[in-house]
Amino acid sequence: MTNSKTSQWKSSRLFQTLGYFGVIPFIGSVKWLQKLFGQKTLLLADTSEVVLVVGANGGVGKRVVSRLLNRGYQVRSLVRDGKKARKVLPKNVEIVTADITQPETLTPEIFKDVSKIICCTGTRVQPPEGDTPKREKYSQGVKFFMPQVVEDPKLVEYEGMKNLVAAAKPQLQLGDNKILFDFKNPTQDLKETWGALDDVVMGGVSESSICLTDSGALFSGNVSTENSGGFVSVRTRNFDPPINLLGSAGIELRVKGDGKRYKFFLRCEDKWDGVGYSYSFDTVYNIWITIRIPFKDLIPVFRANVVENAQPFNPNQIYSYQLMLSKFEYNRGLNPKFAPGFFQLEVEYIKTYGCDQLPKFVLVSSAGVTRPGRPGLNLDEQPKIVQLNDQLKGLLNWKFEGEEVVRSCGIPYTVIRPCGMTEKPGGQALMFDQGDNIKGIVSRDDIAELCLKVLEEDRACNTTFEVKGDPENQVSPENWERLFNGLESDGKKSSLIV
Ligand SMILES: NC(=O)c1ccc[n+]([C@@H]2O[C@H](COP(=O)([O-])OP(=O)(O)OC[C@H]3O[C@@H](n4cnc5c(N)ncnc54)[C@H](OP(=O)(O)O)[C@@H]3O)[C@@H](O)[C@H]2O)c1
Repeated sequence: MTNSKTSQWKSSRLFQTLGYFGVIPFIGSVKWLQKLFGQKTLLLADTSEVVLVVGANGGVGKRVVSRLLNRGYQVRSLVRDGKKARKVLPKNVEIVTADITQPETLTPEIFKDVSKIICCTGTRVQPPEGDTPKREKYSQGVKFFMPQVVEDPKLVEYEGMKNLVAAAKPQLQLGDNKILFDFKNPTQDLKETWGALDDVVMGGVSESSICLTDSGALFSGNVSTENSGGFVSVRTRNFDPPINLLGSAGIELRVKGDGKRYKFFLRCEDKWDGVGYSYSFDTVYNIWITIRIPFKDLIPVFRANVVENAQPFNPNQIYSYQLMLSKFEYNRGLNPKFAPGFFQLEVEYIKTYGCDQLPKFVLVSSAGVTRPGRPGLNLDEQPKIVQLNDQLKGLLNWKFEGEEVVRSCGIPYTVIRPCGMTEKPGGQALMFDQGDNIKGIVSRDDIAELCLKVLEEDRACNTTFEVKGDPENQVSPENWERLFNGLESDGKKSSLIV
């Protein structure tokens, strides 16, 4: 039986809701949050986080830069030759010139707001007669040329790495977890930020509100399934500019609920009714608990239906947050802990976590760095780079020393060791290994893609691994999952440092 009192849909509430979120053009300013930032009224994250690509003019570096820009990252390119960079790199990228072998060129301005570094530098190796206009060295892995080093590998690979790490460390050690909303110590009327968004927008009659109490924010009200409704929520208005949560592993909430299952959403686009990235969590009746929402576990949904083939979640660009109690789970499945009627959820804070669980320094090194001089190794079966190590002035040994600088510096890192790299188009699945034993080839495109993947991958943190193309497999989320699941962190391995 429909209760006529509760099921009466109120158009005035719909207009109130839409007006609050700025959906009606003349109500609500999208610049409102900028104003709040200026007044330091809310404890919100610093939005300026930059990925610094070192060696950005190189074969891998330039591909990393393009990919980062395409995914909406703010990018700074460190190059030796600014003129070349303007030809090689996309127009809209910030370029800084420095030489990692000259520490005085690595000024603090270069590292300002930098939260991640991808280092793709390498000693120049070229045929003795010089590099050809076609840069034949890029065929390495397919066609062999007799190489020689043009620079001192100790200087570039080892001293250079020491200089880079020393200059970057003060900045990379910053960037701790951020309090996004400290509801216990608010300095601004909450209503400026969060507003109720209930099933009234679909014709329902549920009603919720959010207010401040001594212990935080209280989201409460009455949820009803009348008129085919069944959800209540509170959502922030769109942030302008969007919030950048790059560098965090996820969101942490401190909540006290009523035993029901709630959802938390993040949105990476400014649409009113677009894709949201959702995570369901259970509360415990009347007990404060801490919920962690890993970004990698977010489910892309459109009105509670899972969106297959949605864009991956983009932590660089968060437009809004939402807390919801819904009758539905996903794809018309029911929330097993839902009951209509009164509900309440208290929230003490919302913050990011895991800044130290994701790599901040990604080094593109090389397979083979531990092989020169390894007992029992049949040199004839090794890649040419290993056979020619002495001729290349110990290039691989110095690369290994450079890796060691990164592994021991205290900054969360990933060391990627590609096998022979080619200019072939990417899109091939990869194969990882640890222990420095494999040989093969891999596209620079795929190495660039891998560099981006590890930025958001906690399982890649503090790991060193070799990589080559894997023609037996397809690129797919499952394949990436399998690759990262198989990695062991360097702390647990003894076979790494030989
Ligand atoms: N070739 C292969 O098959 C292969 C296989 C496995 C691993 N690797 C390694 O993978 C990494 C990336 O390879 P890649 O093909 O992209 O190399 P690349 O095209 O030679 O690029 C290296 C970049 O590093 C820059 N660089 C060198 N010394 C520098 C310094 N002192 N300060 C600042 N920048 C400096 C170079 O600048 P300029 O443009 O000014 O010269 C160049 O842009 C390298 O470490 C390489 O050794 C290569």
